[in-house]
Amino acid sequence: MTNGYKVLAPSDLGNDLTPGQFALDVLNGLGETPKRLPSRWFYDAEGSRLFQQICELPEYYLTRCEHEILARHAPDIVARAARQGLDIVDLGAGDGRKTSLVLDAAIKQVKDPRFVPIDISESAMRGLVADTGRAFPGLVIQGLVGEYADALHYFSKDKSRPSLVMFLGSNIGNFEYPAARSFLRQVWGALNPGDLLLIGFDRKKDIAQLIAAYNDNAGVTAKFDLNLLARINRELGGRFDLEKFEFFATWNPILGAIESYLVSREKQSVPVAGLNQVFHFEAWEPIHMEHSFKYGDHDIAQLADATGYEIVAEYTDKKGWFKDSLWRVRR
Ligand code: AVJ
Repeated sequence: MTNGYKVLAPSDLGNDLTPGQFALDVLNGLGETPKRLPSRWFYDAEGSRLFQQICELPEYYLTRCEHEILARHAPDIVARAARQGLDIVDLGAGDGRKTSLVLDAAIKQVKDPRFVPIDISESAMRGLVADTGRAFPGLVIQGLVGEYADALHYFSKDKSRPSLVMFLGSNIGNFEYPAARSFLRQVWGALNPGDLLLIGFDRKKDIAQLIAAYNDNAGVTAKFDLNLLARINRELGGRFDLEKFEFFATWNPILGAIESYLVSREKQSVPVAGLNQVFHFEAWEPIHMEHSFKYGDHDIAQLADATGYEIVAEYTDKKGWFKDSLWRVRR
C-alpha cells in the first residue's frame, strides 16, 4: 500500500476545497444580520501558517498543554486500544506534531497500524503526509482532504479495522452545542462498538487568561482573522481594505465561549466581484468570525452521554488547563 492522500472535493483552482461552497458561505454570511463568516474557511495555506504561529504564542497555552498531556499519556491511551490493525484517525490533523506522539506509541504497541489524517487544508495535508512518512518510515498513511462529515462518510465504508479517532486541539470548540452533538453522533455512526475517540477540550478557567489567549500582544490572532477577508479578496475578487477592520475577541459567560469579531471602523461599501455583490457596513458594525467554546467537567460528561459514548479515561496537564477525554463507543 502506498502513502498519500485523497482529495474528497474537487479543488480545480488549487484552492482548498470547492471554491463554490466558499463563495456561497461568504454570500450567505455577509448577507445576514448580524454578519458572520464561518471559521472553517480560516485555513487556506496562509491561514494554516498563521495558526501554527498562534500555537507558539506565549498567550496561547492550549497547544503546549495538550502536547504535555500526550507526551506523558500517549502510551496509556494506545494501550487501551486494539493491539492489531488499528486505524489512527486524526480529524483536523494540522501539522501533526501532537499526533506524532500517539503514532510513536502506536508503532511500539500495535501490529499493523495505519494513520488516517483528515484535514480541510490540502496544503497542510501535503506537508503532514510527507513529514509523517519521513518520521515513521514503514507506517501506512492514507490521508483524506475534505470536510469532516464527507471524510467520515468515506472512512466509514471500511469498518473492518478497529479505530482510535483523535479530535484534538479543542477543534470541537468551534462547534455550537447542537452542532457538536450531531457531529459526535456522526462519528459514532462511522465507528464500531468498542472503538475509541480521544477529544481535546479547553477547560473553563480564569476569564482574563481566556481573553488573553485570543488577544495576543504580537497581533497574530488579529492577522489570522483578517486573513479571511484577504482570502475573499484573493479568491473571490473582493475589495476589503484590511486597515478598515478591527479585531475584537471577548468571553461570553452565558455561552461559555470566546467570541471573535472583525469590526468595521467606518461606514463603507465593499464590492466582491466574484459574487456580483456589494456589502454595506455601518460604522462599528461587526462580522462574527468564530466561537471557541470552553468546557467544564460536567459539560464533557454530559456530551459523552448524550452522543453515545462512555468515558474510559481523562488526562489533564499539570496546571489543569486542558483535558483530553478518551471515550468508547457504547452500543
Ligand atoms: C483551532 C479552533 C482550536 O478556537 O482556539 C486560535 C482556533 N482561533 N486562535 C481555537 C483559534 C483563534 C482554535 N481552534
